[in-house]
Amino acid sequence: MQVMHDVDLTPLNTFGLKARARDFAVLEHENDLYEIVKLPAFDRESVLWLGGGSNILLMRDYQGLVVHVKNKGIRELSRSDGLVYIEAQAGEVWHDFVLHTLEAGLSGLENLSLIPGSVGASPVQNIGAYGVEVKDVIHSVRCFDLDTRTFVTLNNADCRFSYRESLFKQAGKGRYVITAVVFALSETFRPNVRYGDLAAVVEQACAGRKITAKDVSDAVCFIRSGKLPDPATLGNVGSFFKNPVVDAETAQKLLAQHPAMPHYPQADGSVKLAAGWLIDRCNLKGFQIGGAAVHNKQALVLVNKQQAEAQDVYALAQHICRTVQQAFGVALQAEPNWLPADFHV
Ligand code: EPU
Repeated sequence: MQVMHDVDLTPLNTFGLKARARDFAVLEHENDLYEIVKLPAFDRESVLWLGGGSNILLMRDYQGLVVHVKNKGIRELSRSDGLVYIEAQAGEVWHDFVLHTLEAGLSGLENLSLIPGSVGASPVQNIGAYGVEVKDVIHSVRCFDLDTRTFVTLNNADCRFSYRESLFKQAGKGRYVITAVVFALSETFRPNVRYGDLAAVVEQACAGRKITAKDVSDAVCFIRSGKLPDPATLGNVGSFFKNPVVDAETAQKLLAQHPAMPHYPQADGSVKLAAGWLIDRCNLKGFQIGGAAVHNKQALVLVNKQQAEAQDVYALAQHICRTVQQAFGVALQAEPNWLPADFHV
């Protein structure tokens, strides 16, 4: 296992923040973990397991070991009752994996097309889009347990998934290294196009013919590319804030003042609001601090407009939170991980 030093992380984080890693290693195969945990540079508290770098904000040079998780491989495990169990290694690129499953005639991941990042990162924040969350199709997650230094399989319930949350961000943080994910995909396609304008875009493209999972994927790609910037051309980490969840009473009060406010009642009686709408209503689209700006097509996304410094991003995030708090009394929470974690808004 080769350890490199003073490695540039700028191309490895999709926001494009300038930072370097003190120590850097690459995980090519899950068995590399046995060696990695014995490295002198390894420290369980500070190690950064880096996937696609699309959900991190590198606030300064990384004073520890960064392990770039790049293990690859996709294989079918079994088929039963119309379900196909597919295992993908953590280092697979998420969207490439989605396309692979669609080409294999399987459905379940089409609504999650074009999400940046890696397969191994997908369970961590339970990625979701267009009415589907990855928890809906995850069968189990293979991990290296740093407590016991053995491989374990966590089933869907073990992962304690909820909106943009999981065991891996809570009680299991720092304990489990995700090495592969098993998905239960479907041989028969059942479209789920209830979210927003997805049905309209799919119907227009199909013009009366039978809809396929690939059609839904194409429509999702079309909608996403219309408002979400491509990190390859404009640095970003997707949604910068979670959609806030408020109690029913708070939602009622806000709706009385803002009848057009998008709101999504949840099963437990709480109500999810659209952070993008709240930020947009504060007229913050395009607002810029230093090199960091609110995207002008989708207020929930912050972009690296002109070689943004970490401080620009932090100041912008703080400004947005304060402004939304003052206008609506709603607290926003950042979705990506600040590194180090003592930064937060
Ligand atoms: N809206 C505005 N102005 C904006 C942005 C949004 O008025 O600038 C309004 C929209 O018109 C709509 C509502 O807010 O009524 C929700 O907007 P949208 O459908 O674009 O979705 P979102 O809530 O902003 C969430 C996810 C996205 C996911 C989309 C589609 C979170 C934090 N974000 O965004 O996920 O792609 O729904 O399902 O839940 C991500 O997590 O990185 C991500 C991109």
